[in-house]
Amino acid sequence: MFKNIHLPYYEKVWLTIGALSLVVFLTILGILAIGLGLEPPGQMRTMPPEEVQTTAPFNKPELVKTGPNEYKATMVAQMFTFLPGELEIPAGSTVHFEVTSPDVVHGLYIPNTNVNIMAVPGHIAEFTYTFKEAGDYLILCHEYCGSGHQLMMGKLKVI
Ligand code: CUA
Repeated sequence: MFKNIHLPYYEKVWLTIGALSLVVFLTILGILAIGLGLEPPGQMRTMPPEEVQTTAPFNKPELVKTGPNEYKATMVAQMFTFLPGELEIPAGSTVHFEVTSPDVVHGLYIPNTNVNIMAVPGHIAEFTYTFKEAGDYLILCHEYCGSGHQLMMGKLKVI
């Protein structure tokens, strides 16, 4: 390596080490990403993105009370809105989110909580969180999804 280039000896040594470690890291990354078939997190429920609008429960995204202090939020993240766009629950409620996207990858992020979900077309992401403190929470898309990305938000009221 570097036979015809005039470089100080140690420069060549370190360039070689740098190049080799890059190859090693990219190989490891490639094995992890492709070889192990890594997929988005969740329980791997899937659904064709083109059927989101016509298939239950995502054809009617809504917040449903499922028990004392328990709710299920079936949500669709799409360009450039969340459905439903506004949720209201009493403080202390546990919400089971299930989210999918009919178009591109979106995010569903609620600041000041650890709700941080990726809405990937073809996948149904699930997450459960208990909202102990009352207040107005923002629901934000935190995956760049197009020209209206910064306008994509919803609201969660904990009363
Ligand atoms: Cu949806 Cu960014």
